[in-house]
Amino acid sequence: MKLGPTNRRIAAGLSLVFFAALPARAEPAGAPRAAAVILTPPPGPQPRINGARVFGVRPGHPFLYTIAATGDRPMTFSAENLPAGLKLDANTGRITGAAPERGTFQVRLLASNALGAARRELRIEVGDRIALTPPMGWNSWNCFAGAVTAAKVKAAADAMVKSGLIQHGWQYLNVDDFWQVHRDDRDPTLQGPHRDAQGRILPNPRFPDMPGLADYIHRLGLKAGLYSSPGPWTCGGCVASWQHEVQDAQSYAEWGFDYLKYDWCSYDGVAPRGKKRSLDDLKKPYLVMRDALRRQPRDIVFSLCQYGMGQVWEWGDAVGGNCWRTTGDITDTWESLSEIGFGQAGREACAGPGRWNDPDMLIVGQVGWGPRLHPTRLTPDEQYTHISLWCLLCAPLLIGCDMTQLDDFTRSLLTNDEVLEVNQDPLGQQAGRVVQTGDVEVWAKRMEDGSRAVGLFNRGAQAARVAAPWSDLGLSGRQRVRDLWRQRDVGVFEGRFETVVPSHGVALLRIFKEEI
Ligand code: GAL
Repeated sequence: MKLGPTNRRIAAGLSLVFFAALPARAEPAGAPRAAAVILTPPPGPQPRINGARVFGVRPGHPFLYTIAATGDRPMTFSAENLPAGLKLDANTGRITGAAPERGTFQVRLLASNALGAARRELRIEVGDRIALTPPMGWNSWNCFAGAVTAAKVKAAADAMVKSGLIQHGWQYLNVDDFWQVHRDDRDPTLQGPHRDAQGRILPNPRFPDMPGLADYIHRLGLKAGLYSSPGPWTCGGCVASWQHEVQDAQSYAEWGFDYLKYDWCSYDGVAPRGKKRSLDDLKKPYLVMRDALRRQPRDIVFSLCQYGMGQVWEWGDAVGGNCWRTTGDITDTWESLSEIGFGQAGREACAGPGRWNDPDMLIVGQVGWGPRLHPTRLTPDEQYTHISLWCLLCAPLLIGCDMTQLDDFTRSLLTNDEVLEVNQDPLGQQAGRVVQTGDVEVWAKRMEDGSRAVGLFNRGAQAARVAAPWSDLGLSGRQRVRDLWRQRDVGVFEGRFETVVPSHGVALLRIFKEEI
């Protein structure tokens, strides 16, 4: 590496900053928790447009895209070259309607307030593919699990707006298991008829008005999701979709839901077992639900959940999945996070716009799988690693915490637009591991503009020097290195970049060709 004196100083400074801001060792159990240092700069008062730069919709289906923008309010929005059938509300920034004509539409968005204006391109693809960037939102499971209620989901939706997360591209509010009636639970709020006389699924008493819930979420500019299973029961023992797939898909669409997580569980009792189980048996229930969803006049993101069986990443797209869990359930420990997260290496060729590997939901903030919650057991460094790695992996980002108890540190992890851009980049390339030396790993992905997003990770118990050689990144010459968490340029480097990364920590960088 050739460093000029200035770069050497800056690079040394970066190491020191990482040392100072982030603890060098994993804390022993029972020790005081490491201070949570916020690195994300607060958003400025001028308008800045965030969120997905590409959005897919099927022709004629209901359209909702809320322009995510930070900056002082009031703010007004305009858009040029919207496809016919769509309209923008200048005050809320919501684009709604239905676009009947297939095609690619290069839309120019403008957001203005008293201090200035921001412009950005949004590519709208009216065609067969949806979820062209990884879904971003919230799911009820990692906080409430079997204690979820419609009131809690509405409170989460309100918090998505009040906390400002909506201004950074977060949009889905997904109800996981336990909105249906339970097969044998004594809790009266889980009891009731399973289906009506026509066989249509009935929610449990905690969810008295499903269309009302979806409508509540849509009125905030957000989207709504649900959960079911191809077997007779969900994983938690509630009524699922076995032999009612078309009716259930119809109900979801009529109620106005936009996302379905479809979990294997009791389908184990339906599918052939052991050696008799073929790849076709694994695919079958997902094909059935894919066809049922495709018959609906509404786009419903299809999220497969079967923990990676039969290497689902190789065929999840072919059975209509927009994303597929590649692993069992995550929990809020370093062991779980690192085993799942770093275990994603080698699957990058299977992901792309509309088809994402899903290493499970986020475990930051107040989690607990209901009803009692606790702060995540991850250290601050481990949380930086979690968000950085999930962004590099183009993973669906589903917040798993109680949104009404979002603390400043957790919010800072979820609102760093330069970090989220790594996840939402329109090229949709999942990062791969390019260096692995002992506990040290470098993961990198190409961004649409030709720059690289690079994570320097240290899985060890001691701080370590981590180097990213240009040759491993497909780069050469002079490159500008930007620290994404701090949103600051570090300097211009030749040949490689290296810095000291704390135990279980990360330096998340974007590397741009330096124009001469
Ligand atoms: C599991 C799934 C979890 C959650 C749970 C609900 O199988 O992996 O994410 O959905 O079922 O019972």
